[in-house]
Amino acid sequence: MSYYKIDSLEHYFKMYKKSVREPRKFWDKIADEHFTWYQKWEKVIEFDMQEAKFNWFVDAKLNITKNCIDRHLARRGDKTAIIFEPNNPEELAQHISYNELYAKVAKMANVLREQGVKKGDRVCIYLPMIPELAVSVLACARIGAIHSVVFAGFSSAAVSSRINDSECKMVITSDGSYRGNKVIDLKIIVDEALEKSPCVEKVLVVKRTNSKVTMKADRDIWLQPLLDEAVPNNVAEIMDAEDPLFILYTSGSTGKPKGMVHTTAGYMVQTAYSFKNVFNYEENDVYWCTADIGWITGHSYILYGPLLNGATTVIFEGVPSYPDFSRFWEIIEKHQVNQFYTAPTAIRALAKENIDFVQRFPLKSLKVIGSVGEPINEEAWHWYNAHVGGKRCPLVDTWWQTETGSIMISPIPFVTPTKPTYASLPLPGIQPVLMDELRNEIEGNQVTGSLCIKFPWPSMARTIWGDHQRYKETYFTAFPGKYFTGDGALRDEVGYYRITGRVDDVIIVSGHNLGTAPIEDAINEHPAVAESAIVGFPHDIKGNALYGYVILKEVGESRNQENLANEINQLISDQIGPIAKLDTIQFVNGLPKTRSGKIMRRILRKIAEGDFSNFGDISTLLNPEIVEEIKNGKL
Ligand code: PRX
Repeated sequence: MSYYKIDSLEHYFKMYKKSVREPRKFWDKIADEHFTWYQKWEKVIEFDMQEAKFNWFVDAKLNITKNCIDRHLARRGDKTAIIFEPNNPEELAQHISYNELYAKVAKMANVLREQGVKKGDRVCIYLPMIPELAVSVLACARIGAIHSVVFAGFSSAAVSSRINDSECKMVITSDGSYRGNKVIDLKIIVDEALEKSPCVEKVLVVKRTNSKVTMKADRDIWLQPLLDEAVPNNVAEIMDAEDPLFILYTSGSTGKPKGMVHTTAGYMVQTAYSFKNVFNYEENDVYWCTADIGWITGHSYILYGPLLNGATTVIFEGVPSYPDFSRFWEIIEKHQVNQFYTAPTAIRALAKENIDFVQRFPLKSLKVIGSVGEPINEEAWHWYNAHVGGKRCPLVDTWWQTETGSIMISPIPFVTPTKPTYASLPLPGIQPVLMDELRNEIEGNQVTGSLCIKFPWPSMARTIWGDHQRYKETYFTAFPGKYFTGDGALRDEVGYYRITGRVDDVIIVSGHNLGTAPIEDAINEHPAVAESAIVGFPHDIKGNALYGYVILKEVGESRNQENLANEINQLISDQIGPIAKLDTIQFVNGLPKTRSGKIMRRILRKIAEGDFSNFGDISTLLNPEIVEEIKNGKL
């Protein structure tokens, strides 16, 4: 019986039980059978949940890129590793074989070393979805530099703060990026960011859009001429199992973004294992995940997971609406995609368009369709299942997080029966539990609670860059001895999980994880603003949208409120990025607060949702009268 690939429900239950009873043996087998190591481990895991310290595959030595590329060369050298589909459908797609990928990554790795990047250095990658992004990520991993990919929709202030937090010495960017019919001048954003990031010594620039750029002497260098000179061979750095592989920033419910640190061996083992099972990838399949590599989904399931399995993975530069709303379906047809993985927000947006856009395409190549990033509502689930999956492809609703590194709860196609809106059962090795408010584990079925994970898993983030205390407090103190996900969930009568949404101050907008605190900080920078509070409210396409309550400094501020609202949104856009803009801004004279000064977001959420039915007991508030006033002013 294979440990690596599950092929029946009975097999799943067997493996699941084994993984709970003997987690060490379970992961030992998987790691042993399917990867290339310089040296194997002394112990599978050493950990201390209280201190939030986790060492997986203790003392093992490896390089993840040897596993992603080199070991496939003998058998799959000519197989396509990456299909690059450009933004503009008129531009030719590129097929990059494993042999070619090896040469590209080797050259890039050599360039990085020549430019002074060493093992352990941090490199910020701020690139559009082009092959150079994949190559840069892998080249960092090749030489042991820690990559910090920043989504190319973030503003210069967001880029700068992420660079500074982890003291990146290099930035890899491009002159610009294409998104639909727009060109975004990325290099200008980087230039602005670097005014506040003196730690950066070198900027490598990819030419993509031919936008006009200013190259700063001694700092900025065009990448292509360096690659042209570089040797297409490279000896991979020997990495320890627990050496950091990358940092990826995610929003927290308070303060600055958290630089989640993922390490090498555990991340490799589990992303590979979960990819193989959740997508049922077979040797000649073409797999496509529409996420951006700037998010964890892109790291784990565009790059590492697929390449670790010798898969063909599609990288799409564009957007679902350009040149029209059939773009996704056209790409599936063009490249005969077999597994398609996208987000509910994209599904909802596409379902709103004329059904003809999708019905024009038979989509017969598809075998498995997937969803990630936020709860998928019933309507979107059925639309996706019927119109994309043709009711014959299992729909895998995959629950996981930046912090978990890999998919945690998901159906396994052709194994686990699916149920609309349910992420269903945990993958082997994952032990979810639901907790009540008194921190007791809720046993049995048909229950709801806070979702925690009981036992460590290999691909979990190990710390927050530079702030282990915050890591410990955020994830391991609310429910001592367990990892707290920040999500609420219910478990149905057969033990299937359905994720109901965040129970903290993180709001998922179009699948993007946004913390209320950084947005409020941005708003509060406006000179006319005294205080603000952000909540989420349901939105047809985005899942949630943001509603802001803003108190102005001067009572009866005479300025036009529409202008103020626009200025506030501009500030948010500058500080964080357009994804964090507010849909609605209501100017108020006060915010409902507890006697200890905590904003009662529960009440603000209800008002934003237009649900005035039951605010609960508001008499204990410092200022109960404000609730009525805010309610009457609702937009
Ligand atoms: O609230 C959950 C939601 O997205 C959060 C994690 O966001 P992020 O770290 O950006 O990673 C997104 C991609 C893995 C979770 O805490 N979430 C993710 N997947 C699902 C989901 N909510 C419901 N169903 C899902 N399938």
